[in-house]
Amino acid sequence: PKRQYYFMARCRELVRKEAESLGRPLTFFVTTFGCQMNARDSEKLTGILLEAGYLPAENEDADFVIYNTCTVRENANLKVYGHLGLLKHKKKSKPHMRIALCGCMMQEPLVVEKLKNSYQFVDLIFGTHNIFQFAELLARTLESRKTVIDVWEGTQEIVEDLPVERKYPFKSGVNIMFGCNNFCNYCIVPYVRGRERSRKPEDILQEIKTLANDGVSEIMLLGQNVNSYGKTLKEPVSFAELLRQVEQIEGIARIRFMTSHPKDLSDELIQVMKESEKICRHLHLPLQSGSTRILSAMNRRYTKEQYLELAEKIRREIPDISLTTDIIVGFPGETEEDFLETLDVVRRVRYDNAYTFIYSKRTGTPAASMEQQVPEDVVKIRFDRLLMLVQEHARRQTARFAGTVQEVLIEEVNKHDSSLLTGRMGSNLLVHFPGDASLVGSIRSVQLLECRGF
Ligand code: SAH
Ligand code: SF4
Ligand code: F3S
Repeated sequence: PKRQYYFMARCRELVRKEAESLGRPLTFFVTTFGCQMNARDSEKLTGILLEAGYLPAENEDADFVIYNTCTVRENANLKVYGHLGLLKHKKKSKPHMRIALCGCMMQEPLVVEKLKNSYQFVDLIFGTHNIFQFAELLARTLESRKTVIDVWEGTQEIVEDLPVERKYPFKSGVNIMFGCNNFCNYCIVPYVRGRERSRKPEDILQEIKTLANDGVSEIMLLGQNVNSYGKTLKEPVSFAELLRQVEQIEGIARIRFMTSHPKDLSDELIQVMKESEKICRHLHLPLQSGSTRILSAMNRRYTKEQYLELAEKIRREIPDISLTTDIIVGFPGETEEDFLETLDVVRRVRYDNAYTFIYSKRTGTPAASMEQQVPEDVVKIRFDRLLMLVQEHARRQTARFAGTVQEVLIEEVNKHDSSLLTGRMGSNLLVHFPGDASLVGSIRSVQLLECRGF
């Protein structure tokens, strides 16, 4: 961190000079694609840009524009190229503008090659492993007119104590681990985020204490597979044990976590959740497929029956739990029978919400070279059928709260109707109700009159 603070000072000097010559302050704009992990990384980027003397801009008409990219599905990549096309024009009329790209997509050599050849107006490219070096890379970019490219293949390092600027004053993500060792056969994440590394419990707890002192009441512990937290530490600590310690921290009212791999969800975790006053009654438990055959081809390492038993056990122990999930349609080799198994699990588990995805071929993953890729039209029809069922169950499940009074953390003034506030229940359900903006950030009891689905 010392080295990076040195470069932040250096950036401050460079930004000040450029602002002087332009006769106005410089501005920045960060766009985030992908998951909560990326959202948290963007808060780190923002922290450093503010430290460097940039002011936040409302949109991409800024002096420094950075895209924190995702590559989990092809769509995510296409969006980035779309944005870049627009930026090219902006930069023509504003030559001092700087454009930077970072995140998961940059870990793919083919992407960087394409950017080098066809997007030469990009000024800075770096990856997921050296994001902690952003201040240093920013200084290099501001000092040169050539594209700076610095992408690492991997790292064992976790750099603590760099600036972070939270998007919300009252809630925050907290990384507890980085990377993934699961290698689900469709998934690019282990290749672009590297091997699993856990942060030390004392660093995590210290960060949460600092957040609590700073007015944060809800935290979300982040990792690709939080259930295997701590296994690679010198002194191993289980995720359940970490939760017990987080629970002790004063000022934190709500604890969430993302994501749980079903194969590693322990009885100890269920017990800790059950006894906890603060852990939200919500569990995101990605299913991916309901067919044991497909699950095995996906390398998920659980069967349909094991998943169902687990879901049942959780419901038995924590009856008021809300379960949500991720499902992929059209994995190579998926037959109508396999797909029906997925629908069957959706019916039986009764999810509050499910995120459904069309399988996207990711170059370099084992599934990409599997035979029997499912034709697009077949996948599309299955996808629509699944979505209908998911929505029907989501409506039915969430309707159970109608007429009850629930605690809601108020997050913002409603985007469509400014007489309403929008907040979240512990179950992660969104709630809209009349109220004054001064309530944002507080936890209030709200009477729920009408259910309109998730
Ligand atoms: N670590 C998390 C998921 C991270 S990616 C977990 O294991 O649950 C988020 C979701 O994207 C996954 O759960 C999966 O449903 C989906 N996904 C990942 N790779 C995909 C692909 N190649 N095509 C379609 N969906 C994919
Ligand atoms: Fe991808 Fe599987 Fe790791 Fe999740 S657990 S990030 S789906 S490889
Ligand atoms: Fe996407 Fe990277 Fe997250 S690929 S889903 S941003 S870990």
